[in-house]
Amino acid sequence: MPAPEIALTERFQSAFAAAFGPEFADADPIIRPSQFADFQCNAAMGLAKRLGRKPRDIAQDILDAVDLTDIAETPEIAGPGFLNIRLRTDWVAAQAAELAGDERLGAPVPEHADTVVVDYSAPNVAKEMHVGHLRTTVVGDALARTLEKLGHRVIRQNHIGDWGTPFGMLIEHLLEVGEDGSEAELLVTDPNAFYQAARAKFDAAEAAGKAADGSDFASRARRRVATLQSGDAESLRIWTHLVELSKGYFHRIYDMLDVTLTDADLAGESTYNDQLESVCADLEEDGIARISDGALCVFPEGFTGRDEQPLPLIVRKSDGGYGYATTDLAAIRHRVHDLGADRIAYVVGTAQELHFQMVFATARAAGWLPAEVEATHVKIGSVLGEDGKILRTRSGASLRLMALLEEATATARGVIDELRPDLPDDERASIAHAIGIGGVKYADLSTAHDSDYTFDLDRMLALTGNTAPYLQYAVARIRSIARKAAAQGITADGAAPRVENDAERALALTLLEYGPTLEQVGADFEPHRLCAYLFSLAQAFTAFYDASPILKESDEQVRAGRLALATLAERVLVEGLDALGVRAPQQM
Ligand code: ARG
Repeated sequence: MPAPEIALTERFQSAFAAAFGPEFADADPIIRPSQFADFQCNAAMGLAKRLGRKPRDIAQDILDAVDLTDIAETPEIAGPGFLNIRLRTDWVAAQAAELAGDERLGAPVPEHADTVVVDYSAPNVAKEMHVGHLRTTVVGDALARTLEKLGHRVIRQNHIGDWGTPFGMLIEHLLEVGEDGSEAELLVTDPNAFYQAARAKFDAAEAAGKAADGSDFASRARRRVATLQSGDAESLRIWTHLVELSKGYFHRIYDMLDVTLTDADLAGESTYNDQLESVCADLEEDGIARISDGALCVFPEGFTGRDEQPLPLIVRKSDGGYGYATTDLAAIRHRVHDLGADRIAYVVGTAQELHFQMVFATARAAGWLPAEVEATHVKIGSVLGEDGKILRTRSGASLRLMALLEEATATARGVIDELRPDLPDDERASIAHAIGIGGVKYADLSTAHDSDYTFDLDRMLALTGNTAPYLQYAVARIRSIARKAAAQGITADGAAPRVENDAERALALTLLEYGPTLEQVGADFEPHRLCAYLFSLAQAFTAFYDASPILKESDEQVRAGRLALATLAERVLVEGLDALGVRAPQQM
């Protein structure tokens, strides 16, 4: 099922070879959407340079050599040498018919199905998931879903923060409040409150000074870190309990968000504990790491700090402890070597850019990340409040994600109550969930992942503009048309999508772009391109429906063909929203 660009590319490349020699057979024809036609071929200018001739002459040679008879009208040469291409409407219709019969809706079957590790969400145990984790969770999940639809093998890795010095104080606090007490329940309902209480105790004990017998909270917390790290069974048991309670909290959020992560995807920092020593030993043996100020450091090439001093990546602290970098090196080795990753996407905040660049450079130098394996930091920008600063509550604490999501569904409930008071209560509740959660997720996904955006519920839940509710409404509208049609005995049964008038043609052309768009999102890790596409598709549908009535059309064949085209638009919209992790309600 070739999308127009692909079909055109093939034809133009044959023409290049015929007109200019076989060495031009894979020159990029630079097919782009055109303001003046459907597409344009922009290759003449570049080829003219290569051949030392005039662009318009080259354009003429291409025109003489290219055979587009079944696909397009004869192209026109414009400007310095653009070739404007108008596709034949019957060809577009044939492509649309093929698309309708394609279960994958034009998503290309990859030449090579990659194993793609997607590292996303990664909240920290005993800490509230904040809005920062919202973005990595939502973007990562959309990428995982998209890559799966494209036929790749996705391995989700939830690299939770489940290890490190805070666990001493957390364990001691859990022991004091009682492992089964109501305070422990906070880990599932309000983990930050639990963390803050432990922190407060620790800070107070620090301020009060050490007890001579070392029985104060801070000293106990420090000893606990040491016993935990040395593998003490009782400490490990309590730690496991803590992590278990936290998982309960994460999954409440994932369920609420319709996120596909499960327990099976958890591979927290602690997973790599027993590999950290060997990571360091290998780096040291290979001469990649060396001792500097008592710490084992890598100075990857090309990273300098102030005064052009080489920047260290510390893999073992001077006290013998390991940190975040060591864990990530062990993780990368595992992902390539054991999981067989062809590509690894790290969906993590922009602030960690340097960390990942240095980890990747070190892993490449160590041979753990071979050149053919791609590692990408999918940088995640911040969510801002109306004041333009990182979103916080009025009290200044970072905002609870659960509270935010609850507010979104409550606001969406208001929207749907007004729109459809006739629907039963439980249905309105489920639509409110789809709109509220979908609205928040979509607002996030439709912004380039590395730019910041302002959290504005009213905009996110608006029924107009590039929002989830607008797309969901378009789907519900087509479904309602199909229901009404069925009630009148009209079906699309077997009819091919009708592609004749301009609006039908424009909608069909947009539908054909779904596959290439999805492919691009999977290659570049940019879900906002799929959002922009779906928005243009919903607009093309609206324009089509304004110009080409279905229910009011008297010609039976025209009616069936239009209904088939509308149904195809619905399928693509629903599939695209599903790739993003956004639900499409039956009615709105
Ligand atoms: N837990 C970390 C945080 O909250 C993110 C971990 C990202 N993944 C990784 N492999 N380092 O910032």
